[in-house]
Amino acid sequence: MPGDSFAAAAADAEKRLASAADLESVAAIERDLLGRRSKLTDAKSRIGDLDPAERADAGRRLNAVRDRAEAAVAAARERLAASARSARYAAERLDLTERLPQTAPLRRGHLHPVTQARDRLEDVFVGMGYTVAEGPEVESAWYNFEALNIPDWHPARGSFDTIFVNLGEPEEVMLRSHTSPVQIRVMDQRKPPIYIVAPGRTFRADTADATHLPAFNQIEGLAIDRNITMGDLAGTIDEFVRAFFGREVKSRLRPSYFPFTEPSAEFDISRPDGSWLELGGCGMVHPNVLRNCGIDPEQWQGFAFGFGIDRLAVMRHEIDDIREFVNNDVRFLSQF
Ligand code: DAH
Repeated sequence: MPGDSFAAAAADAEKRLASAADLESVAAIERDLLGRRSKLTDAKSRIGDLDPAERADAGRRLNAVRDRAEAAVAAARERLAASARSARYAAERLDLTERLPQTAPLRRGHLHPVTQARDRLEDVFVGMGYTVAEGPEVESAWYNFEALNIPDWHPARGSFDTIFVNLGEPEEVMLRSHTSPVQIRVMDQRKPPIYIVAPGRTFRADTADATHLPAFNQIEGLAIDRNITMGDLAGTIDEFVRAFFGREVKSRLRPSYFPFTEPSAEFDISRPDGSWLELGGCGMVHPNVLRNCGIDPEQWQGFAFGFGIDRLAVMRHEIDDIREFVNNDVRFLSQF
């Protein structure tokens, strides 16, 4: 029985298995070595023809060769499976590195120009003794209109292009169309004297264009004290305008109408070429508004004002189109 030549064939197959590149070649080698038509299988089937004295020994040697060949095939399969696994892990690996090496230096961001304007406004007014108040962005008709002396039949309601919220009675709940409702909320909660500013987001059903945004920012001011006059209002506006725009900039009041103030005015700021630019509205708080908040108009008076923060930033930076503020183009924003 030529068992030794089998052993030599198995050793050769072992070498081929160790360098087999894929499962198909392993299967081919296995077929050659152990398959139904292999020399090993053929030899086994002919063991019966041998001398009884030789049979046992030949059988043992053939089995040893077979065991060795099977182990080599299994080892080759395991080697290929392991390398397939590590290839998959490498492909699925997540790169959690936060920072690329020097090729892309980090750029530091900064506050949005409208936020910067809001912060500066707060600083100017806090410097004048005011505190900062806030109110909700979703309001009821009472705070947004009624308490501000705008009853439901009042034509001024139409001019606000209010965005209503589908909640409760029709036209009862809305996105606030101005920051004036914060006046009411503050007077509800605090006793005079009151000096507050209230910056915040406001909303109107306006199509965005170069000078309008449907969601924009206003700042409201309210001062309630004894013996407050229109002169205090004019002086406060003048002081704020100079602190914000520079000492050379002047302000003026023009008669106007708002339901929540009497008398009412609009205020303008001067431009280097001598022209005037409208900034916002203001006036002496209407006695009805004070009464709606349980404040006696015989004892307390006050003034209020309100204007758009986005528009202020547009003026300050001489920007052509207010929509630039919401386009989020870093090339634009990084200029400020
Ligand atoms: N709320 C007004 C608006 O959005 C602006 C305004 C005008 C506010 C006069 C005031 C004021 O406080 O006194 O059009």
